[in-house]
Parts: sequence; C-alpha cells; structure tokens
Amino acid sequence: MSGTPASPASARPSWQRTHTCGQLRGTDVDAKVILNGWVASRRDLGGIYFLDLRDRYGITQIVVEEDLAGTVQVGPEFVLAVHGNVRSRGTNVNTGRPTGEIEVVATSIEILSSSPTPPIEVIEDLDTAIETRLQWRFLDLRRPPLQRNLMHRAKFTNAMRRAFDSREFVEIETPLLTKATPEGARDYLVPSRVHPGSFYALPQSPQLFKQILMVSGYDRYYQVARCFRDEDLRADRQPDFTQLDMEMSFVNEEDVYLTWEEILAETFRDAMNVEIKTPFPRMTYLEAMERFGSDKPDVRFGLELQDAASWASTCSFGVFSGCVESGGRVKGIVVPGGSSMSRKEVTALEDVAKEYGAKGLAWWKAGIDGGAGPLARFCKPEEEGGEAPAVSLMSTIGASDGDLCLFVADDEATVHKALGALRVHLGRKLGLIKESLTNFQFTWVTEFPMFERDEENNRWVSQHHPFTAPADESLTGDLGKMPSRSYDLVLNGWELGSGSVRIHNQEVQKRIFELLAISPEEQQSKFGFLLKALEYGAPPHAGFAIGLDRLVALTLGLDNIRDVIAFPKTTKAADLFCGAPARVDPAQLVDVHIALTVSATKT
Ligand code: AMO
Ligand code: AMP
Repeated sequence: MSGTPASPASARPSWQRTHTCGQLRGTDVDAKVILNGWVASRRDLGGIYFLDLRDRYGITQIVVEEDLAGTVQVGPEFVLAVHGNVRSRGTNVNTGRPTGEIEVVATSIEILSSSPTPPIEVIEDLDTAIETRLQWRFLDLRRPPLQRNLMHRAKFTNAMRRAFDSREFVEIETPLLTKATPEGARDYLVPSRVHPGSFYALPQSPQLFKQILMVSGYDRYYQVARCFRDEDLRADRQPDFTQLDMEMSFVNEEDVYLTWEEILAETFRDAMNVEIKTPFPRMTYLEAMERFGSDKPDVRFGLELQDAASWASTCSFGVFSGCVESGGRVKGIVVPGGSSMSRKEVTALEDVAKEYGAKGLAWWKAGIDGGAGPLARFCKPEEEGGEAPAVSLMSTIGASDGDLCLFVADDEATVHKALGALRVHLGRKLGLIKESLTNFQFTWVTEFPMFERDEENNRWVSQHHPFTAPADESLTGDLGKMPSRSYDLVLNGWELGSGSVRIHNQEVQKRIFELLAISPEEQQSKFGFLLKALEYGAPPHAGFAIGLDRLVALTLGLDNIRDVIAFPKTTKAADLFCGAPARVDPAQLVDVHIALTVSATKT
C-alpha cells in the first residue's frame, strides 16, 4: 500500500489514514499525518504516554503529550485514528523497526472502535496453547508472524500463477460437489436434498476432471485447487488443504520435471529472491529406500544406510546370521565419531528404533581391537593370526575407529522404516541439518511401485492411483515389484508433490483394473465418466500436484502447515473458532433425508 488515501480528498472521512503504520521515515519529519491502526501497547509516564499503533504494515510510536479529550480509556486493541505531526527521535532511534527514526506527536485521537482486554496477546512471540490460539484465531491472525506468513503465501501463490500463465497454462476450476476420487483417503460426503439417499463427495483432488480436460483439448491445465481428505491428521496434513494442480498433454515425465523445475525456480526468484539449483537430482524409489530408508529422503545430511548383510551372514551373532538366512536384511548407520555417546544416549536411540518397529538396535563402538557394545564380542579375532571380524565389519559398512554403528536386523520394510526414522532423528539431534531459508534441496523420487498390498483386505491397491502408467506395459512379473511411471518431489525430507504419466491405452487400463480386482461394475460406478471420456480420443498425458500449504510452510522454515492456513483445524479435524463440525437443526436433516443413529446431545 502506497499510503495514498482510497477516496478523493473531498470525500475522504476525517479519520482516514494518510499513511500506514509501517510507512513513515526520517524524511517525513514535520509532516501532518493521520494513522489508523490497533493499539499494540500503551506506556504511561505520568502526564505523557506512548502508544504503539499497529497495522499489517508495521508499528509506529505515538506520543500523547497532553490529555487529549476522550483518550484516557484507550487500551490494548482499540482501533484509533491518530492525527499528529511527525517528529524525529534524534539519536534515540529504535533500530528494531523501520519506522524507528520517528514518532508521531498526537494532536487529536479518535476512538474508531474499542476492545475488551484480549484473551491472548497480539504479540510477535506467543507462548500459548495452540487450542487457545485457534479458539481466538481472529486475534491470533492479527499477530505479525501470522500476517507475514499469509502475506508471503499470497505473494508466493501469485508468483506461481504468473509462472504457469506465462507458459500457456489455463487455470480451470473443477467442481467441489462431485463424485469420489481415487486418492485413497476417506471422502467427506455431502447429502443431496433433491436426490434422496444420494451424496456428493468433496474432491480429494481434481484428478479425474483434469484428465478429462486433457481429453477435451486443454493441453496445459493448472488450478489452485481445494482438496478434502478425511484421514489421520499430522503436522503436514489438514482435512482441507490446497494443491497447485497441473496436467499436460503430448508429454512424458521429462516434460513434467522440466516444467516444474522452471516454474519453481521462477517462483522462488520472483517471490523470495532465492536461487534454487536446477535440474533437481533424481533417484528411483528403490535407491531412496536403500540409501535413506525413506521415500522422502532428507538429502541435506549424510548418515546413509549401509548394507551389512555380507558380514552378518557369516558372523557368530545368531540374530544377524539367522535374519540374513531367512531372507531378511541387516543394515546399519555409521555415526562418525559417535563412540563418545553415553550408554544412556544410545539406549534412547534404541527406543527410537523400537518405536518404529525394530526388535532391537544392536550397537557397536567401532575399534580394530573389537570395539565396545553388544556386538563387540562377535568382533574379536576367532583365532590367532586370522582376520579380525572387526576389520571386515568396518570395511563392509565404511566405519572407522571411534564411530558408532547402529544396526537393525529384520524384514526389509521394518529395517528401512526403523533406520530411516533413526537417521532423521540423528540428523536433528546431532545438528547435521543446515536449517536455512536458502537451503532448499529438491529431489525427484521416481518409479514408485505400481501396487502395494492392502493386507487388511487381502488385495492389491494402487500406490498412486489406478490411472498411473506402468513402466513396462507387459505387466508381467511380481506385482509388488512392478515399477510405475510415477514420481514424487521431495523437499528437505517432506513429500511436496506427486504425479504420474497416465494410462491412455484402454487395453492397459483394463488390465490394471483386473490386477486390482476392480470389477467392471465398480469401474463404471466409480470412474465410468472418466473411462467413457478416455475412449473418445485421449491424448498421451501426465501431471503433477504440489501441496501448496507444505511448500509455503517450508519456504518459511515452519514445521506445521497450520501456520500458513488462516483457519486451520485441530488434529481432530475441528475448527475451534467457528465450532465446526456442529450439530444441525433436525429440520435440516429431514430436508436431506438423514436420520441420525447417534444421540443428538453435544459430544
Ligand atoms: P497426492 O495424493 O500425492 O496426489 O497429493 C499431492 C500432494 O498434496 C499434498 N497433500 C496434502 N497436504 C496437506 N494435507 C493433506 N491432507 C494432504 N494430502 C496430500 C501433498 C501431496 O504430495 N491427484 C494426485 C496428483 C497427480 O497425480 O497429479 C494427488 O492428489 O503435498
Ligand atoms: P539380545 O541378544 O536380545 O540381548 O540382544 C543383543 C543386542 O542385539 C541388543 O543390543 C539388542 O537391542 C540387539 N537386537 C536384538 N534383536 C535385534 C534385531 N532384530 N536387530 C537389531 N538388533 C537387535
């Protein structure tokens, strides 16, 4: 905001601001000004008092030197119009704020609105329970950090829109009242009044519609899309969230990678003046799991997983050799110089591994003489003159004297899960992660498996969704190992986005449905409209969607997406401010043909 008043001088209300609270500088000394804003603080010095007046642009100090009419009761969060003159603070500059060279000496003050004492303080750093903050969200949102976050989000989103627009992408909105989409979470349902017993589903993503738009010839689509998923919530998951969704025709995965690399580089430059390195490194899903034990590897630090199978298979520790023999894996993490860790610290690491499913964490303080820890007794030379097992273990996993080595033996999935989590824990604990708002390390993780086992229902399900193209269209071999043409973008250990090349060959699509045991009836009832469209001239197409809340949170160095969402929900999917979800009037239920099976008392 330039500070120029909104209305022409003649029509301007007498209280309307001439400047914002973040605008005045030393060069404005002696100007007659009017400021509008909220009272951030008041300090009384007997006969004279100081107000800090705040708006979203900043804070200006106001000096009230005489007892101005009607201002005695001015308290925190009152909305004022302050008329006054700009005065230099001389050598007493407040270097902590851009307006710190000046203050405004009030000549009159109008109270535009009063406020009771606010239940939470509107200050920069607030140490108050998140529930209280969410309950009083309108005050929380008045706090400078949240205002900065939301303004940054708007700037970032707009920069991204510009990047898409300049590349001939068309923004097209898709319906919110729609049918279930195939993203795999539970749907939020909306009952229909005019179709008794029928429901709309809120979209988990615009997936089906964006593919249909490709069939309709809009060969470059994007949308800032609201998505809804009824799933367990975490720091990086909200029930309603936003995707920057896109789809392209006549392309393969390389075009999608290149487009996103260009768009993200341009957006970071435009919105943040930050240069990110392109092209982004790539690794396959299998490589990510082998090296990092995770499909969202944080590549900002080392501590990669080491395969200890060749040593474990011949060692005299029964847990290890038995595990390899029965088809399991034995892998480890080498912490350079970690031998200095205390037993208590190592036990805490074992607890982390166990929390993620490991049966134990065998540790070894590496040393040519056999080292120390539970594995030491298996590392002593067996016979005089023979090679010490310690030496061969050190060379197998790349450890040196004084390193701490941590091993898990189990089935592959458990080994990767436990060591993957332990690695991230160690990265944080040892301060190996360079947290900085310029250190953005993107990685493409490619070729996710086509299918994963749904043990509960004893069936195969799509890892991404059933329209994802297989890497090999012959679709032969072990279903659990078949790679797909899908890809994720990972940033600093978070899954930022997902996408895939889609199937446009109807024979391949049919075969996938067969493998997933989705009957023709189920196909028709779930995605019949997409399947019909795909029959009528489907171009080869591929796409991708980024979690915008996650991206914006990461660009601000935040670890919870609710801090970039104006009105987020709790981990129990409740909006504490407006009180959703809520009971409704029984008459409304009758309208939509719903009879409750739970009592109508408030939960
Ligand atoms: P996917 O289901 O992987 O793919 O979602 C894409 C991205 O959306 C973000 N995301 C979420 N963000 C916040 N809260 C949530 N509950 C939540 N769920 C997902 C993540 C994720 O990477 N239609 C496909 C994309 C495609 O194939 O083009 C899809 O939705 O950052
Ligand atoms: P135990 O023989 O059960 O006393 O275990 C000896 C050491 O091996 C302990 O440090 C355990 O934590 C560890 N351990 C036991 N089972 C496993 C396993 N499956 N993987 C890794 N370490 C294990």
